[in-house]
Amino acid sequence: MSDIIASLKQEPFSDKLQRKIDELVLRYPRPLSALVPILRAIQEEKGCVSPPSQLRVAERMAISPAWVAGVVSFYTMLHEKKIGKYHLQICRTLPCALRGCGALREHISRKLQIPVGGTSADGKFTLSSVECLGSCDTAPVVQINDQYFEDLTLAKIDQVLARLV
Ligand code: FES
Repeated sequence: MSDIIASLKQEPFSDKLQRKIDELVLRYPRPLSALVPILRAIQEEKGCVSPPSQLRVAERMAISPAWVAGVVSFYTMLHEKKIGKYHLQICRTLPCALRGCGALREHISRKLQIPVGGTSADGKFTLSSVECLGSCDTAPVVQINDQYFEDLTLAKIDQVLARLV
C-alpha cells in the first residue's frame, strides 16, 4: 500500500505551478473554493489532472482523494488523461438531439475512427459527448477546443474536419 502511495506522489509540480496553487488557496475566503481553479491550473501546465496530481491536491487541501476525483470526473472540462490536440465536444442535449446530433456523433466517430470518449492513436483528436453548450438556437453544435461550430450538417463537419487532418 505504501508503495502505491509513494508512486502516486511521484509527479512533482513545477515551482511556478506550486506558487500558483499557493496563491489560489489564499485568494478565497474558504480555501476549498480554490479547488476548481487549482485543477484548471494543473491541467494547463500538465495537460491533464492525473491521479497522482489529484492526490497531491488532496494532501495540499486536506481533503480526501475521492473528493478531488469526484470534482475531476464531474466537470467535462477537466481530464484525468491527456486529450488530443483537437478536442471535439458534441452536444447531446435535447435541442441538439432533435436536430441530429446523434447522426453527427456517429459520423465523426466513424470518420476519425475513435469511439466517443476516445483519443486517436496519433493523439490528434479526442471525441466527447457533452451536455448543453449554451447555443441551442444554433443546434446541432460541436465545440472544438475553444471554437463553436453551429447549425452543423454532415457536409459542414466534413469541411471542418478536412481543415484539421
Ligand atoms: Fe445543444 Fe444547447 S442543446 S447547445
